[in-house]
Amino acid sequence: MFRKLSSQALKRMAYLEELDQQDRTDGTPRSRRLRQINRATGEFLSILAVNAPTGELIEIGTSAGYSTLWLALAARERQQKVKTFEIDPEKIALAQETFHLAGLEEYIEIISGNFLQSGVSLAPISFCFLDAEKELYEPCFQLVAPKLVTSGLLVADNAIDQYEGIKPMIDAALADERFDCLTVPIGNGEFICRRT
Ligand SMILES: C[S@@+](CC[C@H](N)C(=O)[O-])C[C@H]1O[C@@H](n2cnc3c(N)ncnc32)[C@H](O)[C@@H]1O
Repeated sequence: MFRKLSSQALKRMAYLEELDQQDRTDGTPRSRRLRQINRATGEFLSILAVNAPTGELIEIGTSAGYSTLWLALAARERQQKVKTFEIDPEKIALAQETFHLAGLEEYIEIISGNFLQSGVSLAPISFCFLDAEKELYEPCFQLVAPKLVTSGLLVADNAIDQYEGIKPMIDAALADERFDCLTVPIGNGEFICRRT
């Protein structure tokens, strides 16, 4: 999968990695920062998503589309699209530029608006990457959980660096007998829920 990354996709990824590093320290307000995952986490998500069972691949929180590119590699391998949800119009424009420049737009559908409103009609989901505002994790989990197919995965970012912020979702998942859960110490910590 990663071996098939084109030079144009690698170039856009490198550009976004630099921008993300820069905006963490240059005083850019939080709402404008990219706040993206790192490369190892992207590779990890890609491998999980490509091996997920049949169903929709979705992402909640696109930002500039860095994590989406990694999921698009899995989507391309599976001959489907990843659906990614983003609420901020400026981030949507940046993400559209990312998908075009990386040459992966045919494997991505970007859905604008609040996931909690626009995601309700989704078909069975096989893989969900959850990376929006932390107080939204628990309601997003409640929306996605019943739509996950058997062996489907929900992966939530920031399970270590923002544990307290996403604890309501972690507690809900751990108490839910439909799921096996664990935290993987990669990047900011990925909390993985597998539908049994
Ligand atoms: C941490 S960033 C996502 C980073 C991205 N996944 C990456 O690694 O490249 C969170 C994003 O979620 C978006 N967001 C916040 N609330 C949302 C909602 N209710 N629906 C859709 N997107 C939302 C924000 O605008 C922001 O761009």
